[in-house]
Amino acid sequence: MNFLPKNSNGCPYLLLAPMEGVGDQCFRKAMASIGGFNEGVRDFLRVPSNAHVPSLAVRYQANEIAPIPLAAQIMGSDIDLMAEMAVAMESLGAPRIDLNCGCPSNTVTGRGAGSSLLKEPSFLHQVAKAIVKAVSIPVTAKLRSGFDDTSLFKENILAAQESGISYLTLHPRTKAEGYGPPANWDLIAEAKSLLKIPVVGNGDILNVSDALRMLDLTKCDALMIGRGSVINPFIFHQIQAHFSREPYIYKWSSLERYFEVYLAEMPLQIPEKTKVNKLKQMMSFLFKGNDTLLDLRPQILRLTHTDVNGFLDEALLLLKRNFAI
Ligand SMILES: Cc1cc2nc3c(=O)[nH]c(=O)nc-3n(C[C@H](O)[C@H](O)[C@H](O)COP(=O)(O)O)c2cc1C
Repeated sequence: MNFLPKNSNGCPYLLLAPMEGVGDQCFRKAMASIGGFNEGVRDFLRVPSNAHVPSLAVRYQANEIAPIPLAAQIMGSDIDLMAEMAVAMESLGAPRIDLNCGCPSNTVTGRGAGSSLLKEPSFLHQVAKAIVKAVSIPVTAKLRSGFDDTSLFKENILAAQESGISYLTLHPRTKAEGYGPPANWDLIAEAKSLLKIPVVGNGDILNVSDALRMLDLTKCDALMIGRGSVINPFIFHQIQAHFSREPYIYKWSSLERYFEVYLAEMPLQIPEKTKVNKLKQMMSFLFKGNDTLLDLRPQILRLTHTDVNGFLDEALLLLKRNFAI
């Protein structure tokens, strides 16, 4: 079965990356209101060794961005609990379970989870295999290229494949590299040449030409984009437009809706000031990706509204006058 089918225009399958913190439910729903991608991945659900699985599992909502599927990502190192969590995700309607083998946080790695799994390919294999055995939906894994270095890179990707996973996503930086040096796309090409299962390429795609270069250089089967979509929520549409051989017609109303949905999804109990700050943060990401907005950044960040609707109205007015992509 092809889990990563191309779009009808020939564009490879496009995935919205999991991003704990920044890429929360507000962001995913806002991104879904713009669309252009084929699947989202929820940020990790951590399964600690004392986890009460049923109460953790309900944080995942399979229909959150329906009709776009949303995969569930789980992170942990207790094999039985990870399998139990996978079963719970499946029963909640998850289309796919992704095993996190990349989180660099020291709290997580200290407990043997996330990128720590990359220290011991045989353990990574055991965890992935237990999840594959426990559920009947596809299981995948998202890996960094190593923990301290890439010395176990080949062993890790082969161990993941041998566990029976359907495909692998590679963010080619080690845990030690964090988000510092450029992602090493050559490793995606290497994974592609070594593995029989499909490989999703990820890391540092900020525009259409990056996406095309990654496809060309690595021959990966699909693309996953994280920060590039925060900076430019239209990136998926722009990639799709390239494959449709059409110019991308940007609609202001889509960006307006993006922020309206983002706000509407914030929990009611959050104080207005926090809501304003969250919106300011999302808007300031846009400035990073768009030179025409740089002058506007201080103006928007200086707005002193304490009511969030007043802030959004004025900020959108300023953005509308200046926005061009
Ligand atoms: C704020 C933040 C949170 C992240 N959270 C997760 C996560 O929950 N699970 C995961 O597998 N990767 C996570 N990542 C890694 C991204 O999914 C992705 O692999 C990485 O950012 C490289 O892709 P990009 O250059 O397109 O952003 C996170 C990245 C960022 C910046």
